[in-house]
Amino acid sequence: MQAAKFSRIGFILSAAGAAVGLGNIWKFPYITGEYGGGAFVMVYLVTILFIGVSLLIAEMLIGKKGGEDAVTSFETLAPSAKWAWAKAGFLFSIGLIIMTFYSVVIGWIFYYLYVSVTGLPTTLEEATATFDVLYGQSPYLQIGLHFISVVLVALVLLRGIKSGIERFNIILVPLLIMILLGLMVYAMQFESFSKSVAFMFVPDFSKLSGEAIIRAVGHSFFTLSIGIGAIMAYSAALPKHTNIFVAGLWVAFLDTFIAILAGIVIFAFLFQFGGEPAKGPGLVFMSLPVIFAKLGTIGTVIALIFFLGMAFAGLTSAISLVEPSVMYLERRWGWQKKSAVFGSSFLYFVVGVLVILSISDGFKEPLTFGTKSLFDVLEFAVDSFLMPLGGILIALFVGYAMKRDDVEAVLLGHMGNTVFKVWYFSIRFVAPLAVLFLAYNALYL
Ligand code: PHE
Repeated sequence: MQAAKFSRIGFILSAAGAAVGLGNIWKFPYITGEYGGGAFVMVYLVTILFIGVSLLIAEMLIGKKGGEDAVTSFETLAPSAKWAWAKAGFLFSIGLIIMTFYSVVIGWIFYYLYVSVTGLPTTLEEATATFDVLYGQSPYLQIGLHFISVVLVALVLLRGIKSGIERFNIILVPLLIMILLGLMVYAMQFESFSKSVAFMFVPDFSKLSGEAIIRAVGHSFFTLSIGIGAIMAYSAALPKHTNIFVAGLWVAFLDTFIAILAGIVIFAFLFQFGGEPAKGPGLVFMSLPVIFAKLGTIGTVIALIFFLGMAFAGLTSAISLVEPSVMYLERRWGWQKKSAVFGSSFLYFVVGVLVILSISDGFKEPLTFGTKSLFDVLEFAVDSFLMPLGGILIALFVGYAMKRDDVEAVLLGHMGNTVFKVWYFSIRFVAPLAVLFLAYNALYL
């Protein structure tokens, strides 16, 4: 059976939907705030351009040329047993591990949609109390919200590539962009708008610590969805003549554009109404709601629109995190789609419940390791080790296991000789070394 293929635009929007997620709207603004703005953004942009895009294209190449789930693609593209170990990194999708906490955060967004309607917190104390309802006090509420997110994601996956994933993304990604552009136009009337732009773009290198650099590099991987086989799974359904290079550039551009847009909007609101940029993970869940509350009715509308956009961003990424496992169970184990979706969803739902309990009063003790909750442990492991590891495998595989001729056969026509040379050099040397540096340093942070 010939599996369904994306349309070209369907692929670009779906891969962009995978890339644009909580990483862009929740994480990027707060780590930019924490690490001082412009200089941090600069490192992030340089990494995306010189390492991120290269790896993204490499992952797309494996997906498209292999045309199957990650494990099968690794097998067919380098039949030599010498490389058999490489596929091990993709046997069990890291996407499911990410989903154990990602889906929990999507649940929080659902809760904030409800808070937007029923009454936003008006002081920082109230905002903290609202957030604590989730983070600590109400595991059952969180489990319910996590369950809703699991079901929504499963419903899209059940419908397959064309009428599920592609349709969902073709609607939601442009909507998200419109929401953020709308918010930006609104924020442009603020005096603080130019301050926000300056904060994001004028670098102050004295603020750039080693830790900031590591976070910027790590985040550029996370935000582009590199290294877990998500983009690979989507690329297996690429139409035959798609130019991978151009498609990859589009995805990276949209991802970066949306992160910057979200950052400018959020900081414009913060500077205008007196929030702190260095507010940490609570930035969008605590500081922003208080600001929206100050704006009265229009603030409620803005809050609703903002959290809706964030929910869209989260869900379109979530489906790409689960699809690799679904594909693997279907193709390798011959499972029906229904069972594959149910099996994958069940797995991360259950572990997700443990993640929730690990941050809930009364349950957290057995789920805390040292000072870190299971939630923190998983997030840290994904960011600092599992995704970089996947990235390195992809770089080594394309750079050394696949024959240069085969790689050239696909990409030379897409990118031309000079760009190909730069890209190939980056994949063989720059990207693996950069990733090693990242993982090594993360160990000692
Ligand atoms: N890129 C997504 C984000 O920024 C997260 C993600 C990682 C999605 C890996 C798919 C694969 O939120």
